[in-house]
Amino acid sequence: MARIKRIATASAPVNIAVVKYWGKKDTKLILPTNDSLSVTLDQDHLRSLTSSAAVEVEEEEEQGESASASAAAAAAAASKDRLWLNGVEEEIGSEGRLRTCIDELRNARRKVEGEDGGVEKIAHLPLHIVSENNFPTAAGLASSASGFAALVWSISSLYQLNSDSGGHLSTSALSRVARQGSGSACRSLFGGFVAWQGGEAKDGSDSLALQVAEREHWKDLHAIICVISDAKKGTPSTAGMQRTVQTSAALQSRISHVVPERMQRITSAIKQRDFDAFAKETMRDSNNFHATCLDTSPPIFYLNDTSRLVIQLVEELNRSSEQAGAGAGAIAAYTFDAGPNAVLYAPEKNVPLVLSLIRHYFPNADFDDPFKLLPSLPRDGLSSADLPSTFNKSVIPVSEAGAVRRLIHTRVGDGPRILGAGSSSTDDDTHLIGQ
Ligand code: DP6
Repeated sequence: MARIKRIATASAPVNIAVVKYWGKKDTKLILPTNDSLSVTLDQDHLRSLTSSAAVEVEEEEEQGESASASAAAAAAAASKDRLWLNGVEEEIGSEGRLRTCIDELRNARRKVEGEDGGVEKIAHLPLHIVSENNFPTAAGLASSASGFAALVWSISSLYQLNSDSGGHLSTSALSRVARQGSGSACRSLFGGFVAWQGGEAKDGSDSLALQVAEREHWKDLHAIICVISDAKKGTPSTAGMQRTVQTSAALQSRISHVVPERMQRITSAIKQRDFDAFAKETMRDSNNFHATCLDTSPPIFYLNDTSRLVIQLVEELNRSSEQAGAGAGAIAAYTFDAGPNAVLYAPEKNVPLVLSLIRHYFPNADFDDPFKLLPSLPRDGLSSADLPSTFNKSVIPVSEAGAVRRLIHTRVGDGPRILGAGSSSTDDDTHLIGQ
């Protein structure tokens, strides 16, 4: 029987990069070959939720008094750490990414307990961790970023390490831990617009996330996720990026010129809320990243025919808008991660047009509008009223029903939230673990 001594529950958001991370110079510490930058999406629509509990297991042996006995007790506790992910128990093991994150946080707690005798002793207790996503696997989104961010945030709340829960570790300091779970997870520790500074230090001490701007700075930015495939097939990003590091000459120019210059331009576009500049940099970086994948040997293909049709459609929309003049600029931006699904960014005022275009050319996508802000949107039709006059309607054919399977409309969001922390989980349903 396990009895909960202390528990904390946190949620963390998904982030989608506009300057992509692709390549590691240290695969154990997860140190990237280039800086990257992402937009955090709204947790009300997409999030991972994690409860972490320090538990007393009844059959546990009494702890000895000597240092070696307490080290043995800590080792025994660690061996009993358990994790359930979407209802299925996962092996934590004695090494690997989960173990690294848990050990780093446990060591930080142990240090606090050592320095301040008044602090409750819980570092030696085993952890039970339960994590769930509120988006189905069918959303076609990688969940490792939000998953590791929620894990780190919930354990650091349990151990009262982060400043939100009275500790002294900054969010950037904790992002170093999340980074070792999955590189992109470090960016999910902040809301708004987030840079991952690759860093120079061999030990990874300066490889961390920094907030470029808060969500409130540019609340008007919306995202539309076009789920083209929810299948987990193809080359996983961890393996794919190392193949690129080993074989692609194009990656070298991405590391030395393309990304450093783009990081500067996109940061200033965000600071100035300049959507046109933001869109151009976002699309060019996605294309540069996928060109680098193609330059890998053997080549990696993430985009499919439907992905390319989405690119052509957005490019034509932006071209016709620019031709219309009057400073109209780009209407939307596309970006693609290690898979065929498109993420479109657009200012709120352009969302009805972009959605109606997508739904016209890619009919029958499942769509649940969380904002209910589009009551006048035709179910499956093109409202040409707002289309730029020179828009070429035959730029792409209308695809067969279901080519885009599902649409998820969301917007820029805030950083991780602590939903509850305390000495028991008795009286509310905040926590995923009961007594
Ligand atoms: C294409 O963070 O999933 O989404 O560090 O090996 O876990 P690991 O990789 P991961 O890679 C994400 C790659 C990307 C680009 C990005 O999010 O920046």
